[in-house]
Amino acid sequence: MRIITTVDGIESGQRAGRRRVLVPTMGALHKAHGELIRVAREHAGQNGEVAVSIFVNPLQFEPGSDYEKYPRPEKADEDFCRDADVDLLFRPAPGEMYSKDRSVFIDESALSSTLEGKSRPGHFRGVCTVVAKLFNILSPDAAVFGEKDFQQLAIVHRMVRDLNYKIDIVGVPTVREDDGVAFSSRNQYLNKEEEILDLVREMISAAPLAQVDYVDLVDAETLQQLETVQPNSLLALAVFFGKTRLIDNIRLP
Ligand code: PAJ
Repeated sequence: MRIITTVDGIESGQRAGRRRVLVPTMGALHKAHGELIRVAREHAGQNGEVAVSIFVNPLQFEPGSDYEKYPRPEKADEDFCRDADVDLLFRPAPGEMYSKDRSVFIDESALSSTLEGKSRPGHFRGVCTVVAKLFNILSPDAAVFGEKDFQQLAIVHRMVRDLNYKIDIVGVPTVREDDGVAFSSRNQYLNKEEEILDLVREMISAAPLAQVDYVDLVDAETLQQLETVQPNSLLALAVFFGKTRLIDNIRLP
């Protein structure tokens, strides 16, 4: 596996006709990234080349978000890629990707206005700009993206169409943990309690009209909040259905 950290280090032009398939990531690689790499290999073929980029892109993080504390396990990521049979790992430093006085960005102006784009202004401008740069630097024949970030995938499709990139975009279905939670580099921020509560909130919110008031995990005796599920745990919740507020609870084994 070749590891390249500079833009100039990427050989321009000829690759002796080798097909290159790119998997863009921000690192902290997990099983879902592994699945994208597997699909990339399928598309590249044994004679083709699977390239993974790892770059925590400052441009797609809003001010005050988790850019600084985003996990960067360099050695583990490198081992992960080697084990997954990646041919080329592109891992540039931020200074390599952005000039201080950068002034050209890619803006998608229709699909970016809802969902994540609404909650995170500027996010997709950052995503489009970095993905376009990665496409220009690495000139892949195809690039693989996950359906977990459905809006991102749709916007990349639109960018490729509208800017005439000759790159096939391949979507991969969401990869989930056994408990149903989608794999994410941010899952390691969740402790078990948050994970369970998140899952319950997610399930309830899926019901029509449901509005969660609270979902809490407490000790059944003291009613104090718990960090983890213990023998005497109680999961309690209150949910609005329209104007009606219902409460319920369940003892966890
Ligand atoms: P990152 O969050 O590292 O994700 C890299 C790729 O993995 C994305 O295409 C994402 O959709 C996919 N992915 C992550 N978790 C997944 C899961 N559980 N199932 C299926 N696919 C999953 O997305 C980004 O990085 C960045 O925005 C990037 C495209 C690299 C631009 O900076």
